[in-house]
Amino acid sequence: MPVLVVNVDHVATLRQQRKGKEPDPLTAAHLAELAGARGIIVHLREDRRHIQDHDVELMARTLKTRLHLEMAATEEMQAIALARQPYMVCLVPEKREELTTEGGLAVAGREAFLKDYLAPIHARGILSSLFIEADEAQVRAAAAVGCPYIELHTGHFADAPTRAAQRTERDKIVRAIGLARSLGLGVNLGHGLNYDNIYEFADVPGISEFSIGHSIVARAVFTGFERAVADMAAIIARFPA
Ligand code: PXP
Repeated sequence: MPVLVVNVDHVATLRQQRKGKEPDPLTAAHLAELAGARGIIVHLREDRRHIQDHDVELMARTLKTRLHLEMAATEEMQAIALARQPYMVCLVPEKREELTTEGGLAVAGREAFLKDYLAPIHARGILSSLFIEADEAQVRAAAAVGCPYIELHTGHFADAPTRAAQRTERDKIVRAIGLARSLGLGVNLGHGLNYDNIYEFADVPGISEFSIGHSIVARAVFTGFERAVADMAAIIARFPA
């Protein structure tokens, strides 16, 4: 059965507006765990626009579920991952000027680099995932890298302007899931998923985790964090195995 993993970056985004202490993403992470999240995701960006180094350190020490660290494939981030030892690292592309992660990682053609980059991380027993487009070449390249998981980018699906376009994007994702599973990869989905569009994946087999941040933090403003997480966890719990 797929599970919910909650991204708390945007709790930190609000805190960084004032560069103060509130709201604390660590508190959000602990509440999310109480409400049924099976893991917590933070993206430590090069520009530290939301999550800070001390957030990662505290989460690594205090989470009761699993810490997923999203990061760019840089030397700095590799050292942080080795020091903090999250459950999983997810490699993402990063551009300073983007509002959020805009596209999947280019894996095809960089298999050797990514394999070497991940070697010390795997040697520490940390799992890895590559955030990629639902594209055959990228899925095959991810399998060649030897990481156990991929995360398929659902942003184009979420942003599709029409129902037909959304269906087309969904079908691409479903095909990529099938291919990835046949190559032995675990599959997570993330980006732009919300309380409405998530149902499009209700009957899709082979999904391990849904990685969801913005829609949960947005709802939490009105309902409280625990309720927002519990509502999403309840939807996903009804999806067939
Ligand atoms: N997965 C990845 C790789 C991301 O970069 C993000 C956004 O930080 C998410 C999932 C979560 O996306 P959203 O905040 O739109 O739910």
